[in-house]
Amino acid sequence: MDKAETALLALRMRDWVSQAGAHIRHHIHDPLHVQTKSSRKDLVTNLDKQTERDLIAAIRTEYPQAQIMGEEGSGDHVTDLKGLVFFVDPIDGTMNFVKQKYNFAIMIGAYIDGAPHVGVILNVMRQELYWGGPQLGVFKNETPIKAVSPLSLADGLFGINSGMLAYDRYHSHQLFKTSAGMRILGSAGIEYIQLLEGRQVAYLSHLAPWDVAAGRVMAETLGMSVSRLDGHPLDMLSSGDVLIATAPTVADIRAIALDQPR
Ligand code: IPD
Ligand code: CA
Ligand code: CA
Ligand code: CA
Repeated sequence: MDKAETALLALRMRDWVSQAGAHIRHHIHDPLHVQTKSSRKDLVTNLDKQTERDLIAAIRTEYPQAQIMGEEGSGDHVTDLKGLVFFVDPIDGTMNFVKQKYNFAIMIGAYIDGAPHVGVILNVMRQELYWGGPQLGVFKNETPIKAVSPLSLADGLFGINSGMLAYDRYHSHQLFKTSAGMRILGSAGIEYIQLLEGRQVAYLSHLAPWDVAAGRVMAETLGMSVSRLDGHPLDMLSSGDVLIATAPTVADIRAIALDQPR
């Protein structure tokens, strides 16, 4: 896809998530139909499902040849990454959405033959739209974002999945002690935004492709590393433990989490 086509794709993606965000804000105080999925902490609402259907309908209208992987099941059964593939997380941070009506995001990542191409993350209630990719750069609304300065773990705040910290997985209590502090925000998209803005130096969580996709495009464009914690490249067709961080922090975290010599 050339730069003009990519810019058009990014514009369309921004329109889709902006419209979806406006719809959610309009209905934010409506009664919700909340269901549990794998556990009482894993929720889905009527607005997650409706938003996914709306986003996928919009994508299909303009990019009918694309494959679409959506969290709530309205997309395709994607088994390869050939061509244009969209990853859709209609509400990222559903628990926050239900309990706080705040701190949740809409995310779409577009990949071509498995390569990150365009990502968009909308902080719905703050109406802050992060978007971009390797051909375009990264923007918050219309303002370019510059690469963040690399800090060590000791000098930065570290975002982590609450379950990993609670059960001390990957020596996360030691990671906590070594870092300047830990933050648990309950939305991969909101965590990614902290990294893009340089407010946190790392995020470690068990993530699905739709959790990773949009933010990965932008984080890598700004020079951050996005990989499996064990160092393997990401597989965008399966879930796994993902570390997103600036380069010096990756080494700090792996040394502690995996007992690796430095
Ligand atoms: C979840 C959030 C959460 C992360 C989970 C995700 P969802 O997404 O991003 O912060 O820890 O792994 O599943 O289910 O609210 O879209
Ligand atoms: Ca979910
Ligand atoms: Ca998610
Ligand atoms: Ca979701």
